[in-house]
Amino acid sequence: MDTRIRIAIDGPVGSGKSTVAKRVARAMGYTYIDTGAMYRALALKAKRKGISWDDADGMTALARSTSVALEPAGAEDETSVVRLDGEDVSRAIRETEIGGGASRIGTIPGVRRALVEMQRTMATAGGVVMEGRDIGTVVLPDAELKIFLSGSVEERARRRFLELQGKGKTPVMAEVIEEVRARDHQDSTRADSPLKKADDGVEVDTTAMTREQVVEEIVDVIVARAKRAVRTADGGVSL
Ligand code: DC
Repeated sequence: MDTRIRIAIDGPVGSGKSTVAKRVARAMGYTYIDTGAMYRALALKAKRKGISWDDADGMTALARSTSVALEPAGAEDETSVVRLDGEDVSRAIRETEIGGGASRIGTIPGVRRALVEMQRTMATAGGVVMEGRDIGTVVLPDAELKIFLSGSVEERARRRFLELQGKGKTPVMAEVIEEVRARDHQDSTRADSPLKKADDGVEVDTTAMTREQVVEEIVDVIVARAKRAVRTADGGVSL
């Protein structure tokens, strides 16, 4: 009997976690949950309403009264459709400025509590690949498989640079490196749920993960382990 487990994939900007998470989800027939998209959607709503990303009370109230839903986009397109109070904001949340806002509001404990509650509800049935910063440590501390992807700042900035170019933008490398550093600093030094590897997580350095083949190898290892999952007599799962 197939045991549908919970897979946590954490890592900093540009670590390749989205690519890996989406492919693992597709290979396993699991639901892909991009928690960063939830922080981004909330940051977008605050911007539209003129609520400061540093206003802890305002942001907490906003988080409690907002619906963020993630829907699979269909077989060919692996990314999710992100709905903010019903509206499709999938494209709008990808702006660099909104990513920075997501990182800022992610320092507010009340915002985290509201979003973590939604994320845990999404994972209750199992069969999920959830990606973010605190999935293995806080959101799903008992996830059956926890992966932490890391990579050098330079390589991650290079990926981000190419991604921006691919979107028709004209990024400046020095600025992209600075942005990546700033985001790393904010995400890993916040007091509540900082970005870090879970003690029982497996770290994979993706600095050399430039070739498609290497991505596939990481995905294959995760999928092979997930497929071995069996339910034990005491109700636990063995991989
Ligand atoms: O994964 P991403 O770059 O789309 O996430 C944007 C920001 O959202 C990230 O810099 C910090 C915040 N975030 C978070 O605090 N916790 C998560 N689980 C996911 C994202």
